[in-house]
Amino acid sequence: MAWGEEDRRVSVATETKRISVRDIRERKGAEPIVVLTAYTAPMTVLLDPHVDVLLVGDSLGMVVYGLETTLGVTLEMMIAHGAAVTRASRRACVVVDLPFGSYQESPRAAFRTAARVMAETGCAAVKLEGGVEMAETVSFLAARGVPVMGHVGLRPQSVHALGGFRAQGRDEAAAKAILADAEAVAAAGAFALVVEGVMEPLARQLTGQIAIPTIGIGASPACDGQVLVTEDMLGLFNAFRPKFVKRFAELGEQAEAAIRTYAGDVRARRFPGLEHCFGVRKP
Ligand code: KIV
Repeated sequence: MAWGEEDRRVSVATETKRISVRDIRERKGAEPIVVLTAYTAPMTVLLDPHVDVLLVGDSLGMVVYGLETTLGVTLEMMIAHGAAVTRASRRACVVVDLPFGSYQESPRAAFRTAARVMAETGCAAVKLEGGVEMAETVSFLAARGVPVMGHVGLRPQSVHALGGFRAQGRDEAAAKAILADAEAVAAAGAFALVVEGVMEPLARQLTGQIAIPTIGIGASPACDGQVLVTEDMLGLFNAFRPKFVKRFAELGEQAEAAIRTYAGDVRARRFPGLEHCFGVRKP
């Protein structure tokens, strides 16, 4: 068999159907939706077989670029990381965050940004933060072929207006406003909604009340799906550790130990060994 023929057989045999936004939308009230953030190709390869949605979140500004908030994230950053994640994945539905300042001004500005993100990354959908005030934009995008994931509750792009990274919906008026936000975004045509950092009973009520899947983070086990920042749950990001982060591993500690060993080996001339070198003559 020629090389080309063998290659074709392998790629057909391993071909995977990608999860669509419609598949996610139809999971409302059924099987839980598994979401994790992804920013780079090597992490995407690990995540892709296990998750339903890969979220290229603007949290990358804090996790990858060391920014204090997500406000300094640019469209170029989101496009570069979104394209890397789409290229490295085959199965999961890829959603890319629209960064601060790139969509709030008007539905038209949002469409221009979203069209660039979709065309240049190959993602299936975009995510934007906001409630009642963004409903017109969500509807404008959805009507023009841009699937939108909403994001209500603690909205990191509004961290200054919200008075910091703190749980939302603490009193009746605030809870009512978040419910109104969720309903407005769902009615405007979003296919799913991230609910971040809200009181548990509110997230539970909201999930029962709206027709699209809710994806909780610091919200409720009653949400239709859950999302975490991958580096948080793997113990790779320590600058910030909210209550809702469960550490499923402590990879940061393991990485540090490996780096310490490498440094010691280089200093002691234990690395590289001759087995790591080229052209070594056997005695
Ligand atoms: O930017 C992000 O990673 C997010 C998730 C935490 C929901 O918006």
